[in-house]
Amino acid sequence: MKTYPALATCGSGQYFIGISEKATLHYCIRPMRAEDIPQVMEIEREAFPDQWPPPSYRGELKNQLARYFVLIETDMAPEERAAPSPASRGNNRPHSGIGDLFSRALSLFSPKSPETTGEPGGKPRIVGAAGFWLMVDEAHVTTIAIRGTHRRKGLGELLLVHAIDLAIELNAQVVTLEVRVTNTVAQDLYHKYGFNKVGVRKGYYTDNGEDAFIMTTDRTSSGVFKTRFQALKQALSVKLHQDISLASKCEV
Ligand SMILES: CC(C)(COP(=O)(O)OP(=O)(O)OC[C@H]1O[C@@H](n2cnc3c(N)ncnc32)[C@H](O)[C@@H]1OP(=O)(O)O)[C@@H](O)C(=O)NCCC(=O)NCCS
Repeated sequence: MKTYPALATCGSGQYFIGISEKATLHYCIRPMRAEDIPQVMEIEREAFPDQWPPPSYRGELKNQLARYFVLIETDMAPEERAAPSPASRGNNRPHSGIGDLFSRALSLFSPKSPETTGEPGGKPRIVGAAGFWLMVDEAHVTTIAIRGTHRRKGLGELLLVHAIDLAIELNAQVVTLEVRVTNTVAQDLYHKYGFNKVGVRKGYYTDNGEDAFIMTTDRTSSGVFKTRFQALKQALSVKLHQDISLASKCEV
């Protein structure tokens, strides 16, 4: 992954374990927009210093075959974002039960009331980005990266899950990618999600001539793949303290 020749490479249930400031941090995913590019470039520069500059995201965002998306850190659960704000409900309205009490309790611990833990200028804080090209019945992951400060929390997984879900929605039968032979961290992530090494591209990376492993999933429609994927998604929801099936309900 991450070389750019002709073809790019590379429920409503609650799982809160307790109310704490940490539990108020949530993540959502939405399609990448032009205004996200500066933050995405920061993430890319940190993640792939040897392959700077990255592809032209302005061009990629216009590419009909490509799907790019960003992971945003927010300070509200998707359930809360979907609900009317206390102001719009009116101050006199009686509280409507546990859910209301829960969100009021959360707000006490929220660092601030706006919807995101934002960047200056009110921009949402992007903590990761990923994308793939859809080629016939194959989704080819071109990039996936998480800010250094946010690694090892399950967020790379969250992006990969979103990529696979979207690929399935778009009728991709397999998901595939290239990864440096030395990038064992990324290989472990892919392996966890059922990618297998199916070949080697010799001298694939132009910066140092490193080989790439080609890693590919089984058919996404196979029972084995589906069962494993569902189990991993459930485990990730628990780990992230949020229902990850709601992660794409991003309103920022
Ligand atoms: C690869 C990358 C996206 C993983 O993101 P992350 O948010 O840190 O990873 P997660 O916390 O979601 O970990 C998911 C799995 O990845 C693997 N993994 C992640 N970090 C690891 C590490 N430091 N050592 C070993 N395995 C690791 C594990 O299998 C892990 O599952 P586990 O928690 O059950 O052990 C991130 O390290 C990154 O941005 N790296 C730089 C860019 C890059 O190399 N991208 C891939 C290009 S092909």
